[in-house]
Amino acid sequence: MTDYRRLRVALLGAGAVGSQVADLLLRHGDELADRAGAALDLVGIAVRDPDAPRDAELPRELLTTDAEELIVGADIVIELMGGIEPARSQILLALGSGADVVTANKALLATHGPEIFDAADQVGASVYYEAAAAGAIPIIRPLRDSLAGDRVQRIMGIVNGTTNYILDRMDREGSDFADVLADAQALGYAEADPTADIEGFDAAQKAAILASLAFHTAVPLGAVHREGITNVDAQMMDAARRAGYVIKLLAVCERLQVEVSDEAPTGEAISVRVYPALISREHPLASVHGANNAVFVQAEAAGNLMFYGAGAGGVQTASAVLGDVVSAARRHIAGGVGVGESTRANLPVLPVGRVTTRYQITLEVADEPGVLATVAGILAEGRVSIATALQTVITQANGESGTARIVIGTHRALEQDLSETVDRLAASGVVDRIVSVLRVEGD
Ligand code: NDP
Ligand code: HSE
Repeated sequence: MTDYRRLRVALLGAGAVGSQVADLLLRHGDELADRAGAALDLVGIAVRDPDAPRDAELPRELLTTDAEELIVGADIVIELMGGIEPARSQILLALGSGADVVTANKALLATHGPEIFDAADQVGASVYYEAAAAGAIPIIRPLRDSLAGDRVQRIMGIVNGTTNYILDRMDREGSDFADVLADAQALGYAEADPTADIEGFDAAQKAAILASLAFHTAVPLGAVHREGITNVDAQMMDAARRAGYVIKLLAVCERLQVEVSDEAPTGEAISVRVYPALISREHPLASVHGANNAVFVQAEAAGNLMFYGAGAGGVQTASAVLGDVVSAARRHIAGGVGVGESTRANLPVLPVGRVTTRYQITLEVADEPGVLATVAGILAEGRVSIATALQTVITQANGESGTARIVIGTHRALEQDLSETVDRLAASGVVDRIVSVLRVEGD
């Protein structure tokens, strides 16, 4: 083996991802050294309980509960504990001690990213986080490096595997949300407390990270509009399928043209939002099945790009982490300042009310003269233009009717206008039930 310079690598966490990172580092050390140009010595692994069972067999002598001791003196610190503390303090300690940091911690980066990146800048170190959005899929480097010369216009991502698994099964089998969620928990896709996934928190963290990179703007998590999938039912899925759509939980990050103002001095702004949306079955994102992730990027010069693969899983995510470790080692050997985050565009993030999209509104109404005209009038008053309308009469089991279902597809409308219009429909007296209101994305 070549006589490489030796770098000390400290690993914080040996759970689903960390245990696989340690295993691959130990088994493929020589190969990684050739690629990195440095020998990567795993000097220790910090955990809570050194005697807990691990997904991979790890040398007991590497396990410790003293993370700080490992960090001080390390050249590269890999943080795979998750959560905010002690991950935040330990990453800051690592940077302050001259180490480069590799992390997969989207929760931390989405909430404390600027603090961590500033700390890295101050000491000329780098923070690598390829695994923090969409797991094994290379998307951070493409946005940060490959597309650095282009202008990203829009990203639409399926960035949460659990919700894609649930929605995909509902779509394919006509199953109910609660039944598929229970299966997803039994199979280990969904946590015992599935809130972070099904309410869109996990996707919102990833959206904040992707939008920050794509638009060179620090996007705070609080500026990301978030809705989960708990209101999506089998009937909505069926209606979507019949209309040529599928419902996906999408992270949409978009560059928008706005009037030049103090708020938007360049006439540009961005929108970052996570919600279940209808997407044409012809769109590439519609063919993302199971727990897979995909990120569809539209850039001014490059056109449409799609990144697809495993968004989670211990060993899959370890691949992205180890790619970062090799990059960190190369930089550590080469010296010079770190990669640094580019947030100089500093574009305003618009609230969802100021965004325009197409919508599909499904209503149940009394099947009587004048009802459709009243509904159309309310939409017109609210500046919501109808693109398509389909009415079906609902026949009861006893053969009686009297109720109709109307599915209205709109042209692009302002979210705020749409939302006020839906309120007026609900209060109009002619609408028995607003069955669903869904955005249509992907045109
Ligand atoms: P796990 O919960 O499986 O593992 C966490 C590890 O950190 C455990 O080994 C735990 O120790 C250790 N740990 C937790 N708190 C402390 C502490 N205070 N001091 C020392 N050790 C501690 O997490 P994952 O491996 O699933 O996730 C790790 C990171 O990767 C997270 O940021 C996550 O968001 C991210 N990620 C995970 C993906 C996945 O598929 N799992 C996909 C993409 C990103 P012990 O084992 O002793 O309890
Ligand atoms: N819980 C996430 C998902 C995996 O379901 O995609 C980690 O990002």
